[in-house]
Amino acid sequence: MQEDGINILGIETSCDETAAAVVAGGKVVKSAVVASQAKLHEKYGGVVPEIASRAHVEKIYPVIKEAMEQAGVGNDDIEAIAVANQPGLTVALVVGVTAAKTLSFAWDKPLIAINHLHAHLQSAIMSADDLELPAAALIVSGGHTSLYDYRSPLEPRLLGSTIDDAAGEAFDKVASILKLPYPGGPSIEKTAADGNPSAVSFPRSMLGRDSLDFSFSGIKTAVLYPCRGQNMKGRNKVDSMSRREIADIAASFQVAVVDVLVKKTQRAVRKIDAKTILLGGGVAANSALRSALQQMCDGMTPARKLLVAPKQYCTDNAVMVASLAYYKFKAGLFADLTLEPKASSS
Ligand code: KG4
Ligand code: ZN
Repeated sequence: MQEDGINILGIETSCDETAAAVVAGGKVVKSAVVASQAKLHEKYGGVVPEIASRAHVEKIYPVIKEAMEQAGVGNDDIEAIAVANQPGLTVALVVGVTAAKTLSFAWDKPLIAINHLHAHLQSAIMSADDLELPAAALIVSGGHTSLYDYRSPLEPRLLGSTIDDAAGEAFDKVASILKLPYPGGPSIEKTAADGNPSAVSFPRSMLGRDSLDFSFSGIKTAVLYPCRGQNMKGRNKVDSMSRREIADIAASFQVAVVDVLVKKTQRAVRKIDAKTILLGGGVAANSALRSALQQMCDGMTPARKLLVAPKQYCTDNAVMVASLAYYKFKAGLFADLTLEPKASSS
């Protein structure tokens, strides 16, 4: 069989998207199906693990079936089953892991365990023709904000991560303070487009000169001040604010988060002498972040190349899982049927 003909079925259930995809040779997307649970979690302003788990159970079989049908493949055409088993909500991950183990057993195909964060990196490089290494890789999602020294798809080395809130979590919480619709990231981006990013000076937490870790809990609290007053005891004034005022807060918040992400990425680039910068994860869909990183790359001497995940593969999906699995398949890195979900990344 030709290398490119190796079809891998990928499964993703780490948070609130039930996803399956068939990818050939790590690059050719034969199908990509995502069932989003956003509507179910909307009224709670965040993901409710129990609701997520139940919705995955309901959707996992139809989503896998649709991915196989869209790709026009049967089980005989699949070489391996890959699943994100960490990190994420354990009660959500367990649904994908159980489905993948069942198919692996029933179809007698190898099982491949995938780290969800490493898969987000894969979204950024999958369509690249040439990749100059090493790369500094930034993953910004709802659950994680991490910088990696990336020299191969199989062993990205963690350089730093958030010590409290993730960037996406900060977007979601600030959107909720500003009473903007869930999920918060896209709402903040849309609202910020009409605002003045210099209107409010929010703190940029850099955590010391050389730190590659992140902290976003301070900025979230800082957004509460203009909304509740300095003593934080007042009622949320958002209802009486003009659209302009809300847009100004959103734009000022967004630029502060982007500033920190860009500066830390630049530190990582210098530290490892990176030739390329990779950007992935849900917050990578943010246009302000994408263009600020592009500007940073263009302005460095020598200029660096930025590879960003296509927008449809920034948020959780199974294409990135199936694509990364191809490299594990070639390296013979298989899991067995004792595979378990893990809340944190190892
Ligand atoms: O990667 P992802 O789908 O799930 C996790 O692995 O966490 O990321 C979801 C996060 C949410 O916090 C969402 O608000 C954020 O990505 N997000 C955005 C944008 N689109 C999604 N944040 C900022 N701007 C966006 N356009
Ligand atoms: Zn994710």
